[in-house]
Amino acid sequence: MYVGVDYYPEHWERKRWATDAKLMKQAGFNVVRLAEFAWVFLEPEEGRFEFEWLDEALAVLRKNGISAILGTPTAVMPAWCARKYPETLALQKDGTRTVWGVRKNNCFSSGAYRLLSERITRAMAEHFADTPNVIGWQTDNEFGHPVCYCPSCREEFQGWLKQKYGTLAELARAWGTHFWGHRVGRWDEVTIPVDGGSHNPGAGLDWQRFFSSLNVRFQRDQVRILRDLCPKHFVTHNFMGLFSDLNYYDLAEDLDFVTWDNYPVWGKPEVRYRSSSAADVTRGLKRKNFWIMEQTAGPGGWGSFGRNPWPGEIRGVAYQQVAHGADGMIWFRWRTCTAGREQYWHGLLQHDGRPLRRYREAAETARELHKLAPLLEGTTVKTDVAMIYDYDSIWALRLQPGFGQNDYHNALHRYYDALQRAGVSVDMVKPGADLSAYKAVFAPDLHVLPDPVARALSDYVAKGGVLVTDCRTGVKDETNLCHARTLPGLLSDALGIAIEEYESIPDGLEFGVKAKTGFAGDGTAVHYADWVTPKGAEVLAGYEHWHLKRFAAFTRNNFGKGAGFYVGAVVKEPAFYDALVAAVLKTARVRPVLRPPEGVETTVRAGRGRRLLFLINHNETPTAVSVPAGKRELLTGKTTGKELALDRFGVAVIRLR
Ligand code: GLA
Ligand code: ZN
Repeated sequence: MYVGVDYYPEHWERKRWATDAKLMKQAGFNVVRLAEFAWVFLEPEEGRFEFEWLDEALAVLRKNGISAILGTPTAVMPAWCARKYPETLALQKDGTRTVWGVRKNNCFSSGAYRLLSERITRAMAEHFADTPNVIGWQTDNEFGHPVCYCPSCREEFQGWLKQKYGTLAELARAWGTHFWGHRVGRWDEVTIPVDGGSHNPGAGLDWQRFFSSLNVRFQRDQVRILRDLCPKHFVTHNFMGLFSDLNYYDLAEDLDFVTWDNYPVWGKPEVRYRSSSAADVTRGLKRKNFWIMEQTAGPGGWGSFGRNPWPGEIRGVAYQQVAHGADGMIWFRWRTCTAGREQYWHGLLQHDGRPLRRYREAAETARELHKLAPLLEGTTVKTDVAMIYDYDSIWALRLQPGFGQNDYHNALHRYYDALQRAGVSVDMVKPGADLSAYKAVFAPDLHVLPDPVARALSDYVAKGGVLVTDCRTGVKDETNLCHARTLPGLLSDALGIAIEEYESIPDGLEFGVKAKTGFAGDGTAVHYADWVTPKGAEVLAGYEHWHLKRFAAFTRNNFGKGAGFYVGAVVKEPAFYDALVAAVLKTARVRPVLRPPEGVETTVRAGRGRRLLFLINHNETPTAVSVPAGKRELLTGKTTGKELALDRFGVAVIRLR
């Protein structure tokens, strides 16, 4: 198992490097990530390379048994690049160039930038291919910025559209340019839809896809070189969890495995379900375990900083990720830098460089993880429940949420959090993925619903699956046109309902939701209400307001061998979703190992005949959990009784099998 830190030897005098490496070794660290912002130190002038300093840093690390992941350093362009090739600086919406001196500000369709990126990647790959302790590469850093509006990006967009649609007539059909007379007569008349609120929604969705593809292509150019010259090394990238300006499925495709950067310690301690779902999304990108490339090591902030991870939190936050499938743990950063924009983004070491509490806690975690490693090997999260995670829907909803508060991730979390509270893990899958391995599938806010995906979902239910969908599902087709069908369109039979009318609920208005017999989820509809007419579905909850009394708010339909649930409103109370999840799990016959007490998170990693139950206490107070007795708790080596006491921010790993 690889455990370590993000390290910037270029921030410190060389005479400190040996001390750093020794301290890392003492902590049980065996990997660092290096150089992802060091382009100008590696290529101080165009075409002149200086690798000696990095060779030496790598040698010092190697002496201490530490391996390295090298970043291709293209996230920060050298000053000479901006001076010699000003077109490499992204053009902003207002027509001005980004100013050099920040990071992530290059145009991805600039030929010059692509060539320079290939050149430094090739030079590094050639130089470090056989350095014994280099084990892999991180491409660039946190792809996703900036959006560039330059003439070259516009031209590429036009070319991309031509490739995709072939003819202008097809483009006109796909985008529906009969509206507002937006038909173009030539490809070069197509503009970048700069105003997401006014431009054609089809153009907006395609622009987002195009922007994503530019990043994917830029990475692919680097990956090709790395694969060619460094066949022994892995290639990865540091993703950003729920960040969704790029199609992460596409970005992940060229990589060996995915890593992500996790910074959840803000505000008051709570269960960090956003870090859990982010981990599950990350694991879903390649249906494979992942690493943490940057893990919370201290207070973070660029101007002012947040709170310090309290004793136990550094360990707890790390275990949360392991519980969700992390197989590598790298803390950001080793030592807090005295200079630059991130002076207050604290590492394991403070500015003074002394190994104190945070260092000790990470070291303790590292030692434990090394001990656990042989048992973790070959295991991943095992669950009967999947959730569809869809970038097209995220993007279409950003352009037009329908009802104002319609946020994809908020919708997802209404179900996700209830599932976690029930002790049930989630696999995130892309639309169209094979669902046959799952007893239940949640498809929250699946706004863009191409016909083949709708048919597959319907089929999944017919064959015995349990499907949960909700309001605004299936409104759009893949080009962001509204389906010309009564909602829920092709899902009507599986769900046994028709929605002929619907409404946004303005702030200040609320409609009671009343559960019918057999369902325990009373609540309040806010933001939105579908006027659902059952066509065979059983009504689990209806509305109380006089104008909605005839309609259903929540339904369940038996279809083929399975069942389809439909949630027509946004319900304010989390308890509603707890009741909903209970009903769904019962129908799908999904039984979690245990229902955790409040503030405790649980997952199961299984494989190679082993089953490991993780318990993470996010509470500031010690918490008791009822657990299977007579099993071995791996961190203490003790045998479990019926109850296990978790410290504040405490962790336990119980071997069930
Ligand atoms: C991101 C980046 C890091 C650093 C941290 C903290 O995750 O990848 O380089 O900037 O944020 O700001
Ligand atoms: Zn550009």
